[in-house]
Amino acid sequence: MDFLIEKLYREKNLSDSELKTVIEGFGSPELLVKYADEVRQKYYGKKVYLRGLIEISSYCKNDCLYCGIRRSNNNAERYRLTREEIMSCCETGYELGFRTFVMQGGEDSYFTDDFMCSLITEIKQKYPDCAVTLSLGERSYKSYERLKNAGADRYLLRHETASPELYGKLHPKEMSFKNRVECLYNLRSLGYQVGAGFMVGVPFQTTEHIIEDLRFLQDLKPHMIGIGAFIPHHDTPFRNEKAGTLGLTLRLLGILRLMFPTALIPATTALGTLAPNGRELGLKTGCNVVMPNLSPVAVRKKYSLYDNKICTGEESAECRACLQRRIESAGYEISAERGDAII
Ligand code: 5AD
Ligand code: FES
Repeated sequence: MDFLIEKLYREKNLSDSELKTVIEGFGSPELLVKYADEVRQKYYGKKVYLRGLIEISSYCKNDCLYCGIRRSNNNAERYRLTREEIMSCCETGYELGFRTFVMQGGEDSYFTDDFMCSLITEIKQKYPDCAVTLSLGERSYKSYERLKNAGADRYLLRHETASPELYGKLHPKEMSFKNRVECLYNLRSLGYQVGAGFMVGVPFQTTEHIIEDLRFLQDLKPHMIGIGAFIPHHDTPFRNEKAGTLGLTLRLLGILRLMFPTALIPATTALGTLAPNGRELGLKTGCNVVMPNLSPVAVRKKYSLYDNKICTGEESAECRACLQRRIESAGYEISAERGDAII
């Protein structure tokens, strides 16, 4: 079935039935890796962009069935960083060479538009050469607009699954797929660089669902695409479900690189959790972004979306050094640039 991988490489697209064949593992993984790397090198050379991840709050009003910080998990330890703590993460990050700060958190109403806007303004004033990325879930158009005007450059909001039927099985009734999609299109029309993405191997997911995800991404045309294997968390309804596999995640990363040649695609922490060299394998299969953790060590374990998450005991500097080693050992190099999307 290598001819399908050849065709995907040439045409950046396949029919649904052809995609199904490739997703289900026909065709040699080596060929997919070879082409994925060729395409990433054509646009990005050996560059890998760093994003400093600051996990600002583990409070969340949502109750997604897969997520360890869902509101009904009474065992989750909750924290939120103060403004001073966030600024101090940025300071450390800047010294370590990060030129993008990603502020991520659960949907926590404590982080009002006023608070976030004034924080973003301060970060942009202090670090005008840095990009600010937000990952704070679903908010109103007005809110996204205010945050953008305050200086936010990018927004990460995984669509999680493009199938309304599967979306319904992974989320409580009060959450709607329609609203999530609307948020993504709002973000795009406001001029954010937008990141979408989905989980791999989440309960009830079929190949057809994954094809819907790829089609959704073709319509949305996000600048960034984050995918990661589902990993069960012991305090959620999915505690006994099987995790997604490294093999399928890597195959999808390769497919994404061929379908979206210029996308920014991170080798995620979830990939590193599945296998010790997961992120290196991701880099070799088309990924060009890594997101080392900049959160204070004291809160790291509390931002527990899934079990056995890596990098929860490391200081920021250790994470940065560890990733540099991993990137170089995989044959790539850290870029000192902001790493904006090239489309
Ligand atoms: N396994 C893997 N990824 C998860 N996420 C949330 N819970 C899990 C889990 N159990 C992902 C979601 C979310 C991102 C921040 O983390 O895709 O968008
Ligand atoms: Fe965090 Fe390796 S990336 S310790």
